[in-house]
Amino acid sequence: MSTLVATEAPAEATASEAIQSYIVTFNIRRFDPEVDAEPRWVDYDVELYPTDRVLDALHKIKWEVDGSLSFRRSCAHGICGSDAMRINGRNRLACKTLIKDLDISKPIYVEAIKGLPLEKDLIVDMEPFFASYREVQPFLQAKSAPEPGKERVQSIADRAIFDDTTKCILCAACTSSCPVFWTDGQYFGPAAIVNAHRFIFDSRDDAGDVRLDILNDKEGVWRCRTTFNCTEACPRGIEVTKAIAEVKQAVLRGR
Ligand code: SF4
Ligand code: FES
Repeated sequence: MSTLVATEAPAEATASEAIQSYIVTFNIRRFDPEVDAEPRWVDYDVELYPTDRVLDALHKIKWEVDGSLSFRRSCAHGICGSDAMRINGRNRLACKTLIKDLDISKPIYVEAIKGLPLEKDLIVDMEPFFASYREVQPFLQAKSAPEPGKERVQSIADRAIFDDTTKCILCAACTSSCPVFWTDGQYFGPAAIVNAHRFIFDSRDDAGDVRLDILNDKEGVWRCRTTFNCTEACPRGIEVTKAIAEVKQAVLRGR
């Protein structure tokens, strides 16, 4: 339940310029492996401005109410990908989710992303996610060296083929929103396929066939059920399902 709070305006400001803040209730799924047998939901009332973000609310709780609240964040500006979490049941970055875009007449539910081992509060073990990422060999592999003193030249059209998948920040919002990933811990998951796509379709790379072989595995692209959860979850707006479909086509017909 939110409560409107009128913050006192400077003497010279008119009444209409007063900045309004709100008391917003957060319901956070807490888990301390040293104390809790199961996760538990805990309420916090936080005073926030509409332009604050969920990350600001978490900071306020941690710094002013309960220093034991644990979550990851680094850049606070949608670049590092470290603060993906479930906010009202949807995977989002806490630093990119504005309070004014949420329904604050009801509590805001915040919990860790699903499908990865829960470590503490909003922190999961990302190792299985990065293990899949490493398996698709997400780095340029070229058989020949560029001419001395020259760069590897690529046309604008060739670059455009994989432009979308270069935007990935490895936040895991896509992979941890995928029902196949939830039920099958072996599936590579959307993020690994996105990062394979980035190199499979790069005209300067010579290891595309190796990656297509890897993803033709029973836990590879064919596990995708095209639910589009991944595309909806991606904070970078990457067309994840389309990228997976392009990799499937490449497995069948070549690049
Ligand atoms: S594809 Fe999007 S949602 Fe998935 S890891 Fe990359 S940035 Fe995050
Ligand atoms: S803290 Fe870096 S993306 Fe949110």
